[in-house]
Amino acid sequence: MPEQNETKLNIGLFGFGVVGESLYRVLQTNKSLNAQVRKVCIKHADKKRNAPAELFTTDPQDLLRDDNINVIVELIDDADAAYLIVSDALSNKKSVVSANKKMIAEHQDELLELQRTYHTPFLYESACCASIPVIRNLEEYYDNDLLQGISGIVNGSTNYILTRIAEDGLTFEAALKLAQQEGFAESNPALDVEGIDAVNKLTILLTHAYGTVALPKEIVHTGIQNLHAHDATYAKEKGYEIKLVAQAKKLEDGSVAAFVLPQFLKKDNQLYNVKNEYNGVIIESGLADKQFFYGKGAGGFPTASAVLSDLSALRYDYKYEYKKLRYQEPAALAQDFYLRVYVSFDGLFHVPHELFEVIEEWSSNNKRCSVIGIIRFSKLKDESWWKKKNTSLILMPDAFADFVPELKESSASEMFMV
Ligand code: HSE
Repeated sequence: MPEQNETKLNIGLFGFGVVGESLYRVLQTNKSLNAQVRKVCIKHADKKRNAPAELFTTDPQDLLRDDNINVIVELIDDADAAYLIVSDALSNKKSVVSANKKMIAEHQDELLELQRTYHTPFLYESACCASIPVIRNLEEYYDNDLLQGISGIVNGSTNYILTRIAEDGLTFEAALKLAQQEGFAESNPALDVEGIDAVNKLTILLTHAYGTVALPKEIVHTGIQNLHAHDATYAKEKGYEIKLVAQAKKLEDGSVAAFVLPQFLKKDNQLYNVKNEYNGVIIESGLADKQFFYGKGAGGFPTASAVLSDLSALRYDYKYEYKKLRYQEPAALAQDFYLRVYVSFDGLFHVPHELFEVIEEWSSNNKRCSVIGIIRFSKLKDESWWKKKNTSLILMPDAFADFVPELKESSASEMFMV
């Protein structure tokens, strides 16, 4: 039996897609939560739904203006519409649970302000790594000073695609189609493939890990769109796996280096064995060394499980305190440091000695070649040559370089002449 002082959750649910329907099913069978879906707002009234017709409406106001509804669960795809729903609900003192990483990452400042003003809980564990409880752990457990770094596979679709290509020899297109059929991919899969979903998640993690509130566009990122068969051959020869890794690392000056880039991983990295739609996060802490979180990062039920956990936390009025932001000095984003990278490109090219300190050159045939070297991070941040279609840039396993080469100022684009 629920305790007397436990809040009864009368839920207004926005969205009845893969996650929304999974949540509805789980709440139907899980009565211990003292939670009930009262109304569901959907976009397309004529779509056949596996639930009683009277539950559904297409008018958001039926949920937002209903005083009996005290919790809004927002599981829709459209980030702009989601922001309007969430800000309306918070300003009207309805607690909110959301899985919309794009919306949260792009509106962190405004959402923080709304929570400060209205003291209303806004929880979004499912927005990062679905079933892995990473946000609440960063928020509650790890002190800023002890948290040395986070590195993770935070996008299930790209990991699924890379696994299916490597293990079944599928083409990129066929693997993406499967990820879409399984319900892992965003409705605009470019968000997954180009690393945007991963950078949205990293943006959210940075706030809870270090109090660093940034916009996704401020963080260097790319996805798996430019990876080439030549890169896979190189990885195989060296015994590496290629993964899309989101990472943040505290530097000696207290700033935080953050980016999402493909990386070659060696067998001894826990992320090496993270396959398919699974996500994995390594948290490096000063005293505890490395800790590894592993679980399903996409899909209806794994995502619903995190939404359920947030709903459960609402019963005892849990709120994020944003401890690193409020009670500690938030860390700034690091602007310059050095990374070990591999770059491959087509045709004849001028090896960019002025850009890199070149350590090794490698060629699988005379059409595609690659160089491995050390690059200044600001060169990645300010220039776009490495995002061009015929170029792929992959971090080496030991990505952070202590050795600082003497790099001359020059434009990378001048160096890459095909
Ligand atoms: N498209 C996302 C992914 C869904 O593949 O990780 C979960 O956030």
